[in-house]
Amino acid sequence: LADPAAKVASVAGSPHPSIPLPIRLYGNSRDNSSGIDLADEQVLGTLATKIASPLPSRERSDSAPSPSRERGPSDVAAAVTAAQAAFPTWSTTPPESRADALERLADLLERDRESLMAICVHEARKTIPDALAEVREAVDFCRYYAAEARTQFLPLQLPGPTGERNELRLEGRGVFACIAPWNFPLAIFLGQVGAALVAGNTVVAKPAPQTPLIAAAAVALAHEAGIPAGALQLVTGGGEIGEALVRDPRIMGVAFTGSTPTARRIARALLDDESRPLVPFIAETGGINAMIVDSTALTEQVVQDVITSAFRSAGQRCSALRLLLVQDDVADRTLEMLGGAMDTLVIGNPADPATDVGPVIDDAAFTRLETYRQAQQPRWLHALPAPATGDFVAPTVIALDAIADLKEEWFGPLLHVVRWKAGELPATIAAVNALGYGLTMGLHSRIASVAAVVTHGAHVGNLYINRSMIGAVVGSQPFGGEGRSGTGFKAGGPHYLLRFVHERTVSTDT
Ligand code: NAD
Ligand code: ALA
Repeated sequence: LADPAAKVASVAGSPHPSIPLPIRLYGNSRDNSSGIDLADEQVLGTLATKIASPLPSRERSDSAPSPSRERGPSDVAAAVTAAQAAFPTWSTTPPESRADALERLADLLERDRESLMAICVHEARKTIPDALAEVREAVDFCRYYAAEARTQFLPLQLPGPTGERNELRLEGRGVFACIAPWNFPLAIFLGQVGAALVAGNTVVAKPAPQTPLIAAAAVALAHEAGIPAGALQLVTGGGEIGEALVRDPRIMGVAFTGSTPTARRIARALLDDESRPLVPFIAETGGINAMIVDSTALTEQVVQDVITSAFRSAGQRCSALRLLLVQDDVADRTLEMLGGAMDTLVIGNPADPATDVGPVIDDAAFTRLETYRQAQQPRWLHALPAPATGDFVAPTVIALDAIADLKEEWFGPLLHVVRWKAGELPATIAAVNALGYGLTMGLHSRIASVAAVVTHGAHVGNLYINRSMIGAVVGSQPFGGEGRSGTGFKAGGPHYLLRFVHERTVSTDT
């Protein structure tokens, strides 16, 4: 949607019209209302020059976590203590004031858009379009949850006999731990934090160890927006810091986004101590995401959507396509055209505006992915050359005999292909369901009854029909999976904030 007003109108007309107008959502990369037009070469060139320059000093010196000292469990305990002390004031701050603060944060993110994009490119190795989409999505989360809080957190008057007043209130639970991954280090980080805060909780936030700088910049902006320092604490470090945080018995809820194995570890940690209260665990995890293509699909569209879904962001999206399931009759033609389209991809420095596919996040990820990729060499259908130095994993298509042969989520630009025959659609859907994940699925078909069979049969959180399967839009495409892919409720959807609150009924004899 090119027109922001049309975007607003489309959200207002959605089945969940709970967002009050006016609200300015960017719709991730759907429109250009942020004022940066990446299709304009001059704009892109200027932006690329800024991004390639050294980071502004604020991010490097003031806001960045000090590298001089290792963080440890005592830092975590101190952060929880501070967040707990801030809870009585923040939780009784009116929801509309908390929403105001989140909207001010959105304004500040827009003000600092270019420096935030620069950190995303340098620290998270995002391409320029991905860095812009990242900032926009963070802004969208802040504005959307603020708008939702304004309507959802009004006390609800319930019926009762004369002389009795019954009120249902939604209140913050206490200190929330927000644990984020590196692949959306600003958008998911602030989505979790913003939701927890606007719901009346205080927060100890732990970003991924690969991306502490962008998190530190976001927290500094949140404090500048008026969120009290005590109410939002940042702890940096890896899994051991995250583990210490979730094991702190004063934590009253956990919002986690990351891999399925880490989610299991956190779930166990939350249950280990029998004296602890039972607390909500919101987990958004990985997926083995498939796209089904039947013989009626428009091949040119399929190829374009496969390229976007499998290789954009170097395949480092939880939503990314891992398993292309193409009907036998059209498989040869589809794969040949896919190979041709792949050959046009530019692999290189993410700060270069020409780059389509940058490096993966770090050396460890490169080694893991490249070891697997090399082991699959006899099954390669198409592999691009990649730069010899740097953590570049070459986009590669790998043939498999059966869906069940793909055992785990390979978080990079590796696409697996399985062919299926006419009449095998229900069995194909069942085989994908049997993988046990349930995050995204794509379908390309021009037959309505096929769409109906997939819609009813596929156990996934987000199904995309005749389009790409990444880039869920806040407020329009609430995002999240089922099974091994997550607990729900969906991020960017109208029910998400409810996981962060207590419901209290107050009955008064008047
Ligand atoms: P990860 O599981 O390795 O780490 C995620 C976060 O958990 C990091 O901050 C990490 O330090 C922390 N952590 C690790 N061990 C911990 C422990 N024992 N206790 C507490 N915290 C701990 O994931 P990642 O590599 O950062 O991210 C990639 C994964 O995230 C992929 O599997 C991807 O599919 C998933 N992901 C899911 C979604 C979604 O919305 N479903 C979105 C983005 C990424
Ligand atoms: N929101 C991200 C996407 O849909 C995960 O790609």
